[in-house]
Amino acid sequence: MSKILVINASSTPSEKSYTKGVADLFLKDYLELNPNDEIIHLDLNKEKMASITLSQADSGEYWNQEDAHAYIKQLREVDKVVVTCPMNNFNISGLMKNYLDHVLLANETFSYKYSKKGDAIGLLPHLKVQIITTQGAPFGWYPWGNHTENLKGTWEFVGAKVGTPILLAGTKLPPLNQMSPAEAALTLKEEIKKIAGEF
Ligand SMILES: Cc1cc2nc3c(=O)[nH]c(=O)nc-3n(C[C@H](O)[C@H](O)[C@H](O)COP(=O)(O)O)c2cc1C
Repeated sequence: MSKILVINASSTPSEKSYTKGVADLFLKDYLELNPNDEIIHLDLNKEKMASITLSQADSGEYWNQEDAHAYIKQLREVDKVVVTCPMNNFNISGLMKNYLDHVLLANETFSYKYSKKGDAIGLLPHLKVQIITTQGAPFGWYPWGNHTENLKGTWEFVGAKVGTPILLAGTKLPPLNQMSPAEAALTLKEEIKKIAGEF
């Protein structure tokens, strides 16, 4: 039995969230294949730390037990992570950025010790990560803002094995903007089923 941490970094109400629509379909397919696995939901909207931005005012106590080490411990204790995140202004959402700023901690989740120049050693090699992203525009409209690749590279940096990301692109345009999140997710039905089977 594996423990799966599902991180939600969309600020959209759940029932209207395209990211949640894709995540729900992925988890349905995954649980059909792995019915005994334990799902742990981490909704960053409900976590104080995900609203704390690193600044001069708090840099002294930013990586404290409650806001950073507890979440790093959680990453050590699960087997897999489903990272779900919409594009916000050509980037990952602020909730995801604040989460990552807390858990990307040298000597805890990665190390520069013993690594060759310019490289690091990820300290979470036991993790398997599935990235699920959405964006309003079709893929490629903002080549400088590929939040999906940003997340993939970031989780690989901490040593995780990251499978093929699932991206639902074009949610602000027809036909996806005329569909419910659940209907929009079904446009990726085959891809989601295949990737859920590999996770
Ligand atoms: C504050 C904000 C900024 C956004 N910025 C972008 C953007 O830069 N590029 C883009 O393609 N879509 C952008 N979008 C659209 C979202 O990425 C898109 O609607 C996504 O599917 C939302 O997922 P959600 O429903 O799970 O929140 C933005 C949406 C919001 C709310």
